[in-house]
Amino acid sequence: MNSKTYLLALALSAVLPLSAQQTPIYQDATKHIEERVEDALSRMTLQEKVAMVHAQSKFSSAGVPRLGIPEVWMTDGPHGIRSEVLWDEWDQAGWTNDSCVAFPALTCLAATWNEEISSLYGKSIGEEALYRGKDVLLGPGVNIYRTPLNGRNFEYMGEDPFLAARMVVPYIHGVQDKGVAACVKHFALNNHEVNRHTTNVIVDDRTLYEIYLPAFKAAVQEGKAWAVMGAYNLYQNQHACHNQRLLNDILKGEWGFDGVVVSDWGGVHNTDQAITNGMDMEFGSWTNGLSNGASNAYDNYYLAMPYLQRIREGKVGTTELDDKVRRILRLCFRTNMSPTRPLGSLCSPEHYEAARRIGEEGIVLLQNRDNLLPIDLDRAKKILVVGENAIKMMTVGGGSSSLKVQREVSPLEGIRNRVAGRAEVVYARGYVGDAGGEYNGVVTGQNLKDNRTPEELIAEAVREAADADYVIFIGGLNKSAGQDCEDTDRKGLGLSYGQDELISALAEANKNLIVVNISGNAVAMPWMDRVPAIVQGWYLGSEAGNSLAAILMGDVNPSGKLPFTFPARLEDVPAHSLGEYTGVRSDTVIDIRYNEGIFVGYRWTDKQKKIRPLFPFGHGLSYTTFAYDKPTLDNRTLTADTDALTLRVKVRNTGTRAGQEVVQLYISDKKSSLPRPIKELKGFRKISLAPGEEQEVVFLINREALSFFDDAKHEWVAEPGRFDAIIAASATDIKGTISFELK
Ligand code: GLC
Repeated sequence: MNSKTYLLALALSAVLPLSAQQTPIYQDATKHIEERVEDALSRMTLQEKVAMVHAQSKFSSAGVPRLGIPEVWMTDGPHGIRSEVLWDEWDQAGWTNDSCVAFPALTCLAATWNEEISSLYGKSIGEEALYRGKDVLLGPGVNIYRTPLNGRNFEYMGEDPFLAARMVVPYIHGVQDKGVAACVKHFALNNHEVNRHTTNVIVDDRTLYEIYLPAFKAAVQEGKAWAVMGAYNLYQNQHACHNQRLLNDILKGEWGFDGVVVSDWGGVHNTDQAITNGMDMEFGSWTNGLSNGASNAYDNYYLAMPYLQRIREGKVGTTELDDKVRRILRLCFRTNMSPTRPLGSLCSPEHYEAARRIGEEGIVLLQNRDNLLPIDLDRAKKILVVGENAIKMMTVGGGSSSLKVQREVSPLEGIRNRVAGRAEVVYARGYVGDAGGEYNGVVTGQNLKDNRTPEELIAEAVREAADADYVIFIGGLNKSAGQDCEDTDRKGLGLSYGQDELISALAEANKNLIVVNISGNAVAMPWMDRVPAIVQGWYLGSEAGNSLAAILMGDVNPSGKLPFTFPARLEDVPAHSLGEYTGVRSDTVIDIRYNEGIFVGYRWTDKQKKIRPLFPFGHGLSYTTFAYDKPTLDNRTLTADTDALTLRVKVRNTGTRAGQEVVQLYISDKKSSLPRPIKELKGFRKISLAPGEEQEVVFLINREALSFFDDAKHEWVAEPGRFDAIIAASATDIKGTISFELK
């Protein structure tokens, strides 16, 4: 600026009113966020405030154009950034720049038991959301795995609240470091999909606080989640999306949540409750959220005109409205108005690398008799791959987590790429499951039609198996209704489409049979004694075939561990043996009592002498072996003034190749005033060991690790007495136990 201009500016500043020259506080990034919130709020009209607390389109809510406050844009889902839909429809907008990378499903992430991998996941998906101009990612989901039939378990992190809590926090940090809000869902008690809009969950406080809340609490208090999504179901006869107990008493009261509560789409059913019970942003489809109605009827939403009407008529004040708007403005200053928001990136090599790595670390080697795996390519001349899931795209379907990917490497392609030139790979369909390939207008482009009979398909597979060096069966579930799919549950534990008969026939035809189960849920395995190698393959996303081939061919040593129990029979699951699962229909709701209480998953099987799971929680084999020394404690007594005991355990790689092991710490309360599980996961550490290498793993055991929730006192208590610290490689593979006393 030259001197003349400078003098002119100086003169002008002397005459202009102060306000005209100063940046408004809400626009001044040097001001504290709460100052900016108050300033912005003070400038908004009543209509502008009401416009902000409900959707204006399928995935956006209004900003304040007059003040330059941006709209808030949401996007599904937990595994990747959903392609653009029309303003007011679920159908595709037909963009050509909105393909994404599909990362593995969150069950696979949980199965890595690796918090660094979770951080990588959050960072990667956060960058994709940011590049696609999204402010809120509608994920991760952390509903607890109560029944293996739940159609959405693939989107969640398993049966144990401690594992889910540890694994969700880095994902949220990763996403939010990118200036994109994570929206943890579905809060709370959305543990199956059948009748999800009318299920009224009845559960005691001890179970609520010990099993179903911890992952959400960690997400809010440690993850600092900026958004939480209310669930569709009811709790205590009040919809979770406007539930006084869940949203005001617990989430915003006890936990101090300062972010926004977003409804599930159509989860709001009552204006007065939505005003007073903690609902901040109402999203949905059409007028009252769910039922068909006039399109673009966003003004009819419960928190739209009906709310404005009540205020104008003096029936309600604006205190709740201002609180909602403060939270939304805070969301904006953390995301689309943040001055430090970085750049995003989409479909980058780094994101494909991340997807592949997450898959490789999450795949679980369930069984490996005679060390059939890894495949010996020096020996293999012909490899037969059988099964629809070897070729079927799994990123399309399954409900709101469905994606339009830039690419998806199928298991067959991945295996073919990996063994090119080393062995012949022959494919046989084996069975026909779901030949479809479309969801909400996203089409796979695959033509999976096959009119042959099951007998012809099995005959072909058996014939090809006769002279194969290895047979890899790739089956399991898929993303169609009644399999692993939102808004539906499976009818049973067994595989569909005649897969069990096919697997048995293949086991007869060739002893070198490997079964890969692609699923987000446990399945029955009546053939498991006749199949030497079994792999839990998960929904692995864009790099599926590459991750799977790396494990099968031994490029990567499997290190995944099950985040949920594989029951032998449905009756072994307490949600089904004690119930209730389908529940009892009353007038408008279906009451479901969680009679099993805190005894979910291994907490149940540990107590049952006659029940043995197919594969236990925390189970996963390796291509090497590990030896554990006995655990030691620096002290045998934890007193009021010692804050923690230090447990040490040495683990050695006693095999011939490098590998990773997940050392698990369970705590067992030997005597308690209330019933407790035999043991509960309270620590884990994933370590990498070269052949022969030994590492000492250290766990700190504090009072919190010994506590249970006393719902009479409404607080966590650690009762004096004897405890066992159990070091294990799974819920049933105990390596060492050491006792101590809490004084
Ligand atoms: C769906 C799902 C929720 C999703 C939302 C938007 O019904 O329950 O997880 O984020 O609607 O698609």
